[in-house]
Amino acid sequence: MANAIAILDFGSQTAQLIARRVREMHVYCELFPWDAPASKVLSIHPKGFILSGGPASVYEPGAPYLPAYVLESQLPILGICYGMQALTHSLGGEIAASAMREYGPALVEKQIENPLIEMSSLDVWMSHGDRIETPPPGFSILASSPNSPVAAMGDMRRGYFGLQFHPEVRHTPRGAELLRRFVLDICGVNPDWTPDSIINESVARIRQQVGNQMVISAVSGGVDSSVATALVQRAIGDQLLAVFVDTGMLRENEAAQVQKALHDQLGVELITVDAVARFMGALGGVTEPEQKRRIIGEQFIRVFEEQAHAAGEPHFLVQGTIYPDVVESSAPDRAQAQRIKTHHNVGGLPEEMQFELVEPLRYLFKDEVRLVGEALGLPAELVWRQPFPGPGLAVRCLGEITPERIARLRAADAIFVSELRNAGLLRLKEQDGAAQGTAQAFAVLLPVRSVGVMGDHRTYEEAIALRAITTEDFMTADWARLPYDLLARIANRIVNEVDGVNRVVYDITSKPPATIEWE
Ligand code: XMP
Repeated sequence: MANAIAILDFGSQTAQLIARRVREMHVYCELFPWDAPASKVLSIHPKGFILSGGPASVYEPGAPYLPAYVLESQLPILGICYGMQALTHSLGGEIAASAMREYGPALVEKQIENPLIEMSSLDVWMSHGDRIETPPPGFSILASSPNSPVAAMGDMRRGYFGLQFHPEVRHTPRGAELLRRFVLDICGVNPDWTPDSIINESVARIRQQVGNQMVISAVSGGVDSSVATALVQRAIGDQLLAVFVDTGMLRENEAAQVQKALHDQLGVELITVDAVARFMGALGGVTEPEQKRRIIGEQFIRVFEEQAHAAGEPHFLVQGTIYPDVVESSAPDRAQAQRIKTHHNVGGLPEEMQFELVEPLRYLFKDEVRLVGEALGLPAELVWRQPFPGPGLAVRCLGEITPERIARLRAADAIFVSELRNAGLLRLKEQDGAAQGTAQAFAVLLPVRSVGVMGDHRTYEEAIALRAITTEDFMTADWARLPYDLLARIANRIVNEVDGVNRVVYDITSKPPATIEWE
């Protein structure tokens, strides 16, 4: 990794965003807790450091500080917000508690020509309490805002820079340009982290890890498990056996799509297990959401165990863990969110299954996983797929699960999704600063019946709820403002084409207070 940037996380909400911005310029970077051992950070051979923001105040007892090895390395440093204050503190500048917390947009004016800020003024996003009063010796003030006289500072000779504002957030529209100048020009990094180089590196690593042994993979039809499987296939070909379990809770055509993409097009040896009757049987009479999840998880593990046994107990298991999962789990002090739902991933296998894990996506963000998937030849439909919960249609079929009700839900969902696709709204895009399209959209079958009239007949049938949301991170979400004409056409088609449904409603709750799924 001769072209990497190390990002030290001082506890910022946006540290992962910094990493994503750096990766977007095709540069490898890794995020480390600020106090990670020097040897670990230096093992990626960084060409520069970025110090994230954080909630502390540098003069507080026990506050995070800039580790000595960072300065000793003599590599360029960019400190952002708290990172700037930590840099200032360790180089002998002065920080003061600002009279006013500054939070929100600000206009920053350039003071002197410098290699970081090209434009004469810049719209930025501020979020800080303390501010720099006097930059350390050797530093000049590069830019100022009304509230932050030292909004940006730099020591051009040593390649040390500090920004009081956040260049990584979208509310600093040209912030990415600043990061780019720091990484490419000041650190002199060569942007070689491309899908092709990622593939080549992963292939080498997988081959080295597994040698000539057998590897098994549980494919869910989702983006991560498909791309991970395709990567392992590229590396070791027929040493790989992929297992796809048809739980009966899949969406229309899903099993065929996976078969076509992985087996027919990429040549993955794929076993599709038809376990529909088994799952239906186990779910019979169950209406409680968490119990549905539990049953599906358990059944899945049993089916998978049988397949692994039949394949001669392979030693290795492919897992589609991605970088945000790794970062989250290595940051123990991040507040543990209260458990609202057991996000049981079908394909998430218990630890007592004695596999050694192959995790080729461990260092990739979701966007990178998708680009790698495309470069490996997976179809766009699969690579750009919206998230789908492990328990599948089971948690969208409210009330009792029967083959008829699942078929009803599946048919309504297929109409909704195909209409959105035709309207170009099945992906989330940004237009004029507003989110267009959907991050996730699906149908839910409600366990209520209502009266309707069709022709001259009275009907008494079930209702479909349409759920479509916009979100960046799925932690919070807003309902998608879909065009009325489109909603009208979808409702019309569902009632006309799906037996047993005579009413369609549109879910207009955000998250919170609702969740995205209904169960
Ligand atoms: P909620 O409903 O909690 O959903 O707002 C947030 C995101 O998680 C997905 N989700 C699941 N994914 N197993 C999964 O793999 C689950 O049991 C599960 N429940 C919700 C949901 O689709 C949304 O993207």
